[in-house]
Amino acid sequence: MWGRDDVDAGKKYAADVKSLLDFATSGQIAAFIAESIQGVGGCVVFSDGYLKHVYEYVRGAGGLCIADEVQSGFGRTGTHYWGFETQGVIPDIVTMAKGIGNGCPLGAVVTTPKIAQALAQRTHFNTFGGNPVVCAQGRAVLEVIDREKLQGNALKIGNKILASLSGLKEKHKLIGDVRGKGLMLGIELVKDRQSKEPAKEECAQILETCKEMGLLLGKGGLWGQTIRFSPPMCVNEQDADFLLDVLDSAFSA
Ligand SMILES: Cc1ncc(COP(=O)(O)O)c(C=O)c1O
Repeated sequence: MWGRDDVDAGKKYAADVKSLLDFATSGQIAAFIAESIQGVGGCVVFSDGYLKHVYEYVRGAGGLCIADEVQSGFGRTGTHYWGFETQGVIPDIVTMAKGIGNGCPLGAVVTTPKIAQALAQRTHFNTFGGNPVVCAQGRAVLEVIDREKLQGNALKIGNKILASLSGLKEKHKLIGDVRGKGLMLGIELVKDRQSKEPAKEECAQILETCKEMGLLLGKGGLWGQTIRFSPPMCVNEQDADFLLDVLDSAFSA
């Protein structure tokens, strides 16, 4: 609704949450949860200041702030290890998975001792919880992320891809927006740049065409109009060039 050139966009979007709190709740809430960058929602990067204002409102209503870092965590944004850091906030609870295990089934929740205490006298268990083999894998993954400087790689390769995607946007009018941080990137397809009408069928077709050329891509957005990339954080320049060449050919076709 508000463009990226609007410096107050974060504040204006957060006002929507304030209005929900004021008019659709008792005024006291348990918690607010958000991905730090929305993944399946279409790689939506919040405007600067959005979470800062939202957290203020939520805490004002007695709520806890939860960051879902399942997709955006572990260095993927390139500039920061956690997505919430890109918004300058500190959550009360952080949920994490995917990147923590590099494919092995592992998820974790991190919180303060005070909040964790609430569960100390309760029974909470699941079949695979605390699996030692998977935890060992997770530890190894964290070491590799640091040792191989994969956060820096996410920044370098992500910036290269994003810059080239901006070039593709100049060339192909089906591309309405390119966005993201590090190796969490998206291309939103529109039938018309003014009306921003979602180009759902065209998006599905581009994915098929890319698949035929050996490139598997994800899709998201409310109307399935956004191509999403969250590739392995070890992708290199050649992988990026391949991705960009295939995309350019698919859009041209
Ligand atoms: C951002 C995000 N949060 C949460 C989940 C669910 O995670 P889990 O399958 O570990 O419950 C997913 C799963 O795809 C996700 O993408």
